[in-house]
Amino acid sequence: MKNLTKELYSDVFGEAPEQLAFAPGRIEFIGNHTDYNGGLVMGAAVTEGITVAVGRRKDRTISLRSEASKRVDISLDNLQPLQGKDAWTNYPVGVTDALMDAGMQMPVGYNIAVTSTLPSGAGMSSSAAFELATAYALASIYGYAADKAQFARIGRRAENEFVGMPCGILDQGVSAFGEHSALVRIDCQSESFSTFAMPKGTHFWIFDSNVKHALVDSAYAERHKECHDALAILQKTYPQAKTLTDISEAQLRTCEATLGPLLFRRALHIVGENDRVCLVEQALQINDLRAVGDALYVSHESSRVNFDNSIQQLDFLVHAMKQQPHVYGARLTGGGFGGAVMAYTNAAFGESEANAVSLAYKEEFSIQATVLHTSAGSGATLL
Ligand code: GLA
Repeated sequence: MKNLTKELYSDVFGEAPEQLAFAPGRIEFIGNHTDYNGGLVMGAAVTEGITVAVGRRKDRTISLRSEASKRVDISLDNLQPLQGKDAWTNYPVGVTDALMDAGMQMPVGYNIAVTSTLPSGAGMSSSAAFELATAYALASIYGYAADKAQFARIGRRAENEFVGMPCGILDQGVSAFGEHSALVRIDCQSESFSTFAMPKGTHFWIFDSNVKHALVDSAYAERHKECHDALAILQKTYPQAKTLTDISEAQLRTCEATLGPLLFRRALHIVGENDRVCLVEQALQINDLRAVGDALYVSHESSRVNFDNSIQQLDFLVHAMKQQPHVYGARLTGGGFGGAVMAYTNAAFGESEANAVSLAYKEEFSIQATVLHTSAGSGATLL
């Protein structure tokens, strides 16, 4: 089979790459915005993702090329985030910066070519996949050893410090730890990662609304700050709480008046999501998929009314799923403010059901949703 990434690399750089690496995108299954609040979250790596091809150069230049964009050259001695059309380079360059900070020696620069099988902008975290694939490939050619958790942290660091997005560890953690037919559970306080098998015969369907909030990054940062502000107020009454995850719903309710309605709703979403991750975990253990599905719907409702990170198109899609008998549950997946809905279904939900939902969506909003039937796949790997 032809390898497109290898071909792109050879066409652009005139030689064969030294190393290829792949990292998957992810589904956020349950646990919305819990990661940077020290909480619990469950996700799954998907079979689609990002492949990079890399090779060392003789000078100190990093030369980057994607399928869709022109070649960009950057000096290894002056790593700066770029804006506008070249901003896609911030992911691999941020990873380079983080790897160098972690002690990786880079006497020379490198060439990199990248291709993707992820639907673009679908909220399946192509950025984390790009970071992880780059980290694996560069560590291999420069001889740097790290384990999966360290690679996930390097990816997150690139995103937080170089790209400037204050995300948690969910996307990078799932991209690193994903396994075939498995869910990844992350305790973000201790940064411990575990996997467990998905119930047999269950499926993921992604419905990308193809709507993106114009200010999605600043809306995310605003929620991050609101959670931080809510915690600071709660700590006056509960000084032992290190994160919102250490607060129970009962404790939260005693502080409702001091928090005010907005911060109370934000904190209620986080505290509720943590409880739902526990509930889902228990329900999965006894194969109670109806209970799992109900928690997914409740999660979406909490996004809608408490966290204000849903939009009417996502609400419509979730509502449409609820009418479908073969859907256990559905919710927005990822940061929100646009993006995609994830539906967790049994095997009887198929193309015709998916088409009916996207047709209804098109009639309502005159937008074509992008539909993807996917399954839980393996994490980042060298090829
Ligand atoms: C984005 C971020 C993640 C996480 C989710 C919301 O995907 O990158 O770190 O916060 O949103 O749960």
